[in-house]
Amino acid sequence: MGSLYALVSAGGSPGVTTAALAIALAWPAPDPVIVAECDPSGGDALAGVLGGQWPVARGLVQHAIEAGRDPQAAVAGLAAELVPLDEAESRLLLPGLTDPRQATGLAQAWPAVAMTLAAQSCDVIADCGRLDAGPGQPLAVLSAASAVVVVLRPSLRQVWAAGARIDMLTGLLGSAERLVLLVTGPGAYSAREVAQALRVPVLASLPDDPKTAAVLSDGLGRRGQLGSAALIRAARTAGRALRERATLSLVPAHPEEPSASPRQGQTTRH
Ligand SMILES: Nc1ncnc2c1ncn2[C@@H]1O[C@H](COP(=O)(O)OP(=O)(O)OP(=O)(O)O)[C@@H](O)[C@H]1O
Ligand SMILES: [Mg+2]
Repeated sequence: MGSLYALVSAGGSPGVTTAALAIALAWPAPDPVIVAECDPSGGDALAGVLGGQWPVARGLVQHAIEAGRDPQAAVAGLAAELVPLDEAESRLLLPGLTDPRQATGLAQAWPAVAMTLAAQSCDVIADCGRLDAGPGQPLAVLSAASAVVVVLRPSLRQVWAAGARIDMLTGLLGSAERLVLLVTGPGAYSAREVAQALRVPVLASLPDDPKTAAVLSDGLGRRGQLGSAALIRAARTAGRALRERATLSLVPAHPEEPSASPRQGQTTRH
């Protein structure tokens, strides 16, 4: 069985989508990995890193309908909703919402989606976007994850905004045990200072690498040289740290939505 990892931000577009894609592309071959776009404000990768080459006929909405109807069938059926991110087709994308108005309809489906993502045989990295209060948030996905990664820039504004989100996540997860920070891009503070301010450990740091980031976030530039880029090299380290963490983490004792976690009462798989 694989592990489910959730990436989330406090807003300000720090680079959640870019980080999820970078970590997936740097995932150790030949292990497959899925990037699931669970951002309620919409998915970016079809029009970003994939440059509009794929139709939007598959993805999260279709999967959520199937998961609501027949969760067991949806675990296997997820494969039909995926789009390859690489030639070897070992890095796969579950395209997200195409319209933020779809998020309201999806609110009821998150527990079933979380269950199917957590039940995949390979690892899944969920891009949960910006964590806000209110309906439509993928809280069940966050609850079901082995590690919840708060992505932020090392700036005062981002640290300020992250404080309340860390509080929200600590409440949702029952403790801060599964919470880590991923410090990415430019900013005035060191990862150590950010960790001290928020009292949450830093999983890893991704460097300020706008050229590589633009390939991943917007499909600008060539993907050929990505393997040696500073961002991808750091993402490899981040991915390794994530996998190590998953082996240590425990399943939530009291997840907010119990039906969302198929692993309740068990230790994390691996
Ligand atoms: N490590 C980095 N270095 C430099 N630029 C970066 C880095 N990571 C992301 N960026 C840039 O920051 C911008 C926002 O990135 P991205 O779309 O991944 O953020 P996000 O947090 O997913 O935003 P949103 O909340 O809007 O979905 C993009 O222009 C991207 O190229
Ligand atoms: Mg994003």
